[in-house]
Amino acid sequence: MEKLVITGKTPLKGEVVISGAKNAAVAIIPATLLINGVCRIENVPNISDVRLYCEILEELGAKITWETEHEITVDTRKIDPHKVPLDTTRKFRASYYLLGALLGRCKFAQVSSPGGCNLGARPIDQHIKSFEALGATVDVSNGKITAKAKKLKGTSVYMDVVSVGATINAILAAVLAEGTTIIDNAAKEPHIVDVANFLNTMGADIRGAGTDIIKVHGVKELKGDATYSIVPDQIEAGTFMIAAIASKGDITIKNCITKHLESITAKIVEIGGNVDANGDHLRVWYSKRTHKATIKTLPYPGFPTDLQPQMGVLLSISEGTSIINESIWESRFQYTVELNKMGANITAQGKTAVFEGVKGLTAAPVYASDLRAGAALIIAGIIANGKTEIYNLNHIDRGYENIEEKFRKLGAKIERVVEE
Ligand code: UD1
Repeated sequence: MEKLVITGKTPLKGEVVISGAKNAAVAIIPATLLINGVCRIENVPNISDVRLYCEILEELGAKITWETEHEITVDTRKIDPHKVPLDTTRKFRASYYLLGALLGRCKFAQVSSPGGCNLGARPIDQHIKSFEALGATVDVSNGKITAKAKKLKGTSVYMDVVSVGATINAILAAVLAEGTTIIDNAAKEPHIVDVANFLNTMGADIRGAGTDIIKVHGVKELKGDATYSIVPDQIEAGTFMIAAIASKGDITIKNCITKHLESITAKIVEIGGNVDANGDHLRVWYSKRTHKATIKTLPYPGFPTDLQPQMGVLLSISEGTSIINESIWESRFQYTVELNKMGANITAQGKTAVFEGVKGLTAAPVYASDLRAGAALIIAGIIANGKTEIYNLNHIDRGYENIEEKFRKLGAKIERVVEE
């Protein structure tokens, strides 16, 4: 078993370069299945979810070549939708994008019910509603989801909840449908815009991504034969911003889109941190103890749920009583139990957690319950007094590229150790 061992109390200093966005990559890679041709993708994060997705595509018949550590060429001219490896798709959430992509290209898709981080109930009713509106029949039984259609026809879909996954899946299923599809109450996250930009580069006609209403004008075929570069990871950049302040450091974050980080910048400045945004990089530095805040997680452009645990670490050592209301996921405060083992004073009940700010944290053995909880525990280890051990690293490796190396370059004392 692997663990991270962190000797804390080091202020982070220096520069960090942000990788391509995980949540864009795990949608763009299956989106290549819509292309009857070859495409090249750059700025691909080299993380386990991406490698797993590439393996799934290869099982389906795609040819994937890693040109460099962060660039792939994907040939999806010949694919067989019946070859989805159901054991693999069960392992991670984003496998649901195979449904929209394969349904769109082959009019048949089958995946096992998607797994992923345990954040509470994760229904996919809005995905299914979109496929059915386009003319598909969808069957959910025996742990499998099967979608089939004779043909897909443009339609109007009103999303009952703002959903990243359902918005992307509706786009994927509509790209090759006959006529125009209007997706209303769409999610506006940066990775939705990125998926639409990717598909448009490959020959699709999608307008309005990044707003509430997305219009997909169906095209006959996507030819590909183009190169696309994945957007930088908003959540990875936000993780380092929070780590800079929590560790009393001063870091410059390179290759990020500062516009995507406005809600995080605003909150850091509100509690007493310093941020200077400048083109594609920003400097974040500590000058005085941060103070209490109230945060409600919301769909973009609100404060992202995927940065809530990391922010929770900062609030746990900020002066005064802070409150976080988690409005997206039912069960995203499991990390607070681990932080309390490190001396934090957090009471979490349902979707609300109350943080009584303490002066500092102390080291303890802790367990990552999910991907972002893992990132939060790394920040906690960096600021704590003593040697923190973090277990369940598989969650962290799914979504952060070279995380310990990036933190080590900033001065953190962090090591991956194999335990007998
Ligand atoms: C994506 C992100 C995840 C992030 C989340 C919210 C990926 C791979 N994952 O997850 O990291 O935390 O967005 O920003 O991109 N819902 C329904 N019915 C549906 C779909 C969703 O009720 O059919 C609800 C969910 O239970 C949740 C809310 O809508 O309460 C938002 O979920 P959604 O945006 O779909 O999250 P994911 O796409 O799964």
